[in-house]
Amino acid sequence: QVLPVILCGGSGTRLWPLSRSGFPKQFLVLSGDGANQSLFQQSIGRIHSVASKDISLGKTVIVTNEEHRFLALDQLRELKNDLRNLDATLLLEPSGRNTAPALTLAALYAQEQGQDPILVVTPADQTVTNPAAFTKALASSITIAQTGAIAILGITPSAPETGYGYIKVQNTKSEDGFVVERFVEKPNEDTAKQYLAEGGYFWNGGMFVLKASVWLAALKEFRPDILGATEKAWKDKVVDVSGDAQFIRPAKELFNAIPSESVDYAVIEKCPGKLPIKMVELDAGWNDLGAWDAVWQVGKQDAEGNVTSGDALVSNSKNSLIHASSRLVSAVGVENLIIVETADAVLVADRKNSQDVKNIVSKLELQK
Ligand code: GDD
Ligand code: MG
Repeated sequence: QVLPVILCGGSGTRLWPLSRSGFPKQFLVLSGDGANQSLFQQSIGRIHSVASKDISLGKTVIVTNEEHRFLALDQLRELKNDLRNLDATLLLEPSGRNTAPALTLAALYAQEQGQDPILVVTPADQTVTNPAAFTKALASSITIAQTGAIAILGITPSAPETGYGYIKVQNTKSEDGFVVERFVEKPNEDTAKQYLAEGGYFWNGGMFVLKASVWLAALKEFRPDILGATEKAWKDKVVDVSGDAQFIRPAKELFNAIPSESVDYAVIEKCPGKLPIKMVELDAGWNDLGAWDAVWQVGKQDAEGNVTSGDALVSNSKNSLIHASSRLVSAVGVENLIIVETADAVLVADRKNSQDVKNIVSKLELQK
């Protein structure tokens, strides 16, 4: 059996001021990508597309922050109009300890369901333009995971981005994906440039397909501290069922004491050469909507390359993104700008600096 696991407890600070701690980017409908669904909803729909006579999906496991349980629940209910069989459990974290503890909660939950299911772990901050290609790559990953290996999805890099993991694969392509030779999470720019020049590197798409037992064993080997601490918090969990909702809460104090670490740093970087890990190529128009520049890229551009949403008017302007939430926003004679208006904050940024929007959020946090 296969369990979809959606990690959606991040804060998405680079999409401020639309993405807020109370309403982070994964729950936003970023109109312009044409989907009319939030990134969270899209990610669930994408995994469900893999269901077939050979692949049966169990409960969808949502791991998110306590603060966002109603956002997630509302969006799940909406989604049930399309996905009638959608049945979800929400694992609620009292604080963000990054993705390694989040995935561990999902694996511990899965083991309790019996049969050591395969987890299809996906982030909730991405879009793809070719869903059929995505489904195919995911199905191959599940086949790999059945053998007890870890499968990850790799995208041909187009720029020396520093926000991604880099996967180096062995040249010889075997029947079922490439053997991963090296995995480097978020290299610096010089290193990323070197990888692109050298070739044979892919971006990590952030999806992991593996058996629950494989994750727990790998974590036991590389980060027994995280495993031990998460097991303790899970043991004292509180299960709360009301109506169609099931919430499971690990013990608060114990959970907050877990070391904060991502799946990539805690385990994936350490696997090559030690544990079987393979990469399936993903050529599906993948985009991680990490920052505003990416929203502009996937958005519907007019003849001048402008992407607008809401009440926005542009004249004599090029390659800009204008997002109006509550007022009329107009721009004249500008190029390569990001303008995002909300009721209480306005962002104006050069498109090439969109990664640095998180600095504003840090400053705001210091003022608190
Ligand atoms: N439940 C939970 N708890 N989810 C979390 C937490 C947490 O504490 N922190 C992050 N997430 C969720 C985010 O909401 C997102 O959907 C997903 O986990 C990935 O986290 P990011 O913080 O967005 O990771 P990243 O983008 O920096 O890096 C990862 O994704 C890249 C591709 O987009 C890595 O896997 C990279 O290697 C990869 O290239
Ligand atoms: Mg991300």
